[in-house]
Amino acid sequence: MKKRIQWGVVLLLPIITLGAMWMLRRDTSERNREWPTQMQYSPAYLSQTSNPVLPDGMTSQPPVAGTIPRGWMPFHYAPGAEEAARAGRELKNPFQSSEENLARGQYVYQNYCAVCHGATGGGDGPMIPRYPNPPSYKTEQSKTLADGAMFHAITVGRNNMPAHASQVGAEDRWKVILYIRRLQGM
Ligand code: HEC
Repeated sequence: MKKRIQWGVVLLLPIITLGAMWMLRRDTSERNREWPTQMQYSPAYLSQTSNPVLPDGMTSQPPVAGTIPRGWMPFHYAPGAEEAARAGRELKNPFQSSEENLARGQYVYQNYCAVCHGATGGGDGPMIPRYPNPPSYKTEQSKTLADGAMFHAITVGRNNMPAHASQVGAEDRWKVILYIRRLQGM
């Protein structure tokens, strides 16, 4: 007997398929089902989130006491004249007065110091006399002030001289001293 194509079945199959697709149609405004999810969602806690395991409930833990950032030099001197003198005895300027270092020192000086100390270090910047004036760098006292004592004054401040550690980095503080020496004609 000759086999006949079952046209009914042939038509029925796409109808069932399309019908099933229509019935199971998904809401495209929602995320599709995900499985497994371990790859998308790391089980690790994000740094700035709370944490049920670690102390204080914080994921980001404070650094161990005494930790210092890479490349950062601690400064073991308290404010005050005695400590300034000790810094003067113990600290040496690690930079040579090369053209490059002097140029950097000049840049720092003009941006952070000249307002008070004056363009040529005369203690007569535009802030003066509204701000109690600093001594001229050209005095004997200033010329004989050790580099370390200057570094101390710039780092922790001295009387009316505000501490500049937060706005001028340690290397720049040494380089600005090279420039001050240049202003002093040394
Ligand atoms: C707000 C004004 C002001 C600014 C800005 C300032 N200084 Fe001073 N500085 C002073 C005053 C005032 C003194 C005098 C402090 C004292 O009487 O002991 C002084 C003193 C000093 C001394 C000691 C000078 C000496 O002969 O004994 C140094 C070194 C110095 N400053 C460096 C700097 C450097 C470097 C900067 C910029 C990074 C700077 N200062 C920015 C006001 C300022």
